[in-house]
This record gives sequence, structure tokens and C-alpha cells, in this order.
Amino acid sequence: MPKKIISVVSGKGGVGKSTLAVNIATLLSRAGASTVLIDADIYNPCVFFHLGLSPQSSGLQELLDGSATIEETLPIHPASGLRCISSSLHTYGKIKIGRMHKLIDMLNYEYIIIDCPPGFSPLIEEAVSSSNNVFVMMTPDMPSCTAALKLVTFIRNHLKGREMRFTYFLNRVSNSPYEIHPREVESLFHTRLASIIDEDLDVPKSIAAKTPLVLMSPQGRFSKTLRSFSSMLLRSRDHSFDMSPQPQETVQPQQVQTMEKTGFFAWLSGIFRRFTGR
Ligand SMILES: Nc1ncnc2c1ncn2[C@@H]1O[C@H](COP(=O)(O)OP(=O)(O)O)[C@@H](O)[C@H]1O
Ligand SMILES: [Mg+2]
Repeated sequence: MPKKIISVVSGKGGVGKSTLAVNIATLLSRAGASTVLIDADIYNPCVFFHLGLSPQSSGLQELLDGSATIEETLPIHPASGLRCISSSLHTYGKIKIGRMHKLIDMLNYEYIIIDCPPGFSPLIEEAVSSSNNVFVMMTPDMPSCTAALKLVTFIRNHLKGREMRFTYFLNRVSNSPYEIHPREVESLFHTRLASIIDEDLDVPKSIAAKTPLVLMSPQGRFSKTLRSFSSMLLRSRDHSFDMSPQPQETVQPQQVQTMEKTGFFAWLSGIFRRFTGR
């Protein structure tokens, strides 16, 4: 089966990337798909805490500089069978980025999920360019959506010509009047959101309990939303890597759809177009 390599990115930090990465990886693994989760947030590794795993003596940095083997850095999450590579807690920011492609080649798993730091950096460029799908996480506020648009525009321009799909998620939605409406976000990105995830107090509770929420509360709304997405992901496993409800964007040149846009987003979208020529 072809490998599905997914980078989870965001323009802004603290929007729920790690929460999404941990819970989707857990669901895929529980469903029987061989899955490895790489915590590539070298400054703030946290995936081990979400999963209740003890930090290993070596991590991603040591794997990339060749001082550790995959077996030494790949503990198993007992409740789901998920494998996990954490960024090392001992090294701060030192990483041999260029070997990321090779590492991913060596990992023999159906799903490889890379939880990235926010924004763009050589590390993120390496992760994204190794991937065939990019999950873009944002929250329904202007700083987060604007930063996500900037990031996606930058990746598209930087990695032009690569076969890559973008899948968009909106997290922490509480339907407050001051929030940006999901339809406005869809209009801004010219595509449907793959999942709209509610604000849910059980998320921080599950992190404190060191148990992914999809296992702690499988019948809750959060779990149902993510299960429906991961089922779609698994249904498409033998075919293309097509997961969102309508055709997705790729970094290939394509016709820009004409869509009805209003207010701030039309203006913002216009600015990005002017600078990027899209
Ligand atoms: N749907 C949600 N509802 C409530 N809190 C959330 C939700 N998603 C994430 N959080 C909280 O937001 C914080 C940041 O989440 P995290 O996944 O670490 O973000 P990132 O990886 O983008 O920095 C965490 O404290 C987490 O508990
Ligand atoms: Mg994170």
C-alpha cells in the first residue's frame, strides 16, 4: 500500500495541531492501519505527554544525526498500537534537517503523521516537501486564518510543481458572534473544510489525563467529528489520497475558481493574489 505522509501545519501556534495529530493518528492505528506519529516540534515537543509515554533518552534529533537507531526512538502506545517518535527533550533546536526525507523513506508504515511547529522554517519545508498531504489547522479568528493563508500561499510558491494536497481544519469553534464563520474560511481558501471541531473542555482534560480524547470519550462530539474524518481517510486508502468533501487544491498550477466573496476576506484574498499572481 502506498505511504500516506501527512504534515500537520499552522500559521499560528497553539491552534490545536498536536491535538489533531495525536487523535487522528490514534484513530488510524486503532482501526488497524500501521501508523507512526513524528513530533517535529523541536522547541515544544508534547506528543509524549498527550499519549502518556515516558520520554525516551533520544529522539528525532538523534535519529537524524545518526546517533540513535529507529528501534531506540520508537516506543509503542499500548492502547492504540501507535508508534511515536518524539523530538528530544535534551536538545534545543539543533537538528540535521536534510536527513528527514531519508528517515521517512526508512519508516515502513502506511501513515506517517508529522506534527510540525507553527509557521515556516527549513524544518517545516523539509517535512512538507516529504509529504503528500498537508493538514492546515486554524481557529476561527483573524490572526489564525490570516497566518494560515500566508503559510499556504508561501508553501505553494516555494514548492511549486510538487504533487501535494491541502486539507483544512477549523478548531475550537463555539459559534460566538465574534468568530469568523466557517463559510468565510471556505471562501478564503477556495475549498471546503474537512472538519469543523468544536471548542471542547474535554480536550485539556484529556491532555491532563494523558489519554487521547478519542479514547477517553469515544462517544463525545470531538471523537465523532474526528472519527468521521478518519473513516473517510481510511475509505480512500486504496485509491487516491483524496479526503475532503470536494476536489482539493494541489500546488500544481490550476484554474482559480470564481467564488462569491465578501468584506474583509475578499480584500485579504485580493492582496495575496496580487503578491502571488494566483
Ligand atoms: N477543540 C478544542 N477545545 C478546547 N481546547 C482545545 C481544543 N483543541 C486544542 N485545545 C487546547 O489548545 C491548546 C493548544 O493545543 P495544541 O494541540 O498543543 O496546539 P498546537 O500544537 O497548534 O500548538 C491545548 O492546551 C489544548 O488543550
Ligand atoms: Mg503542537
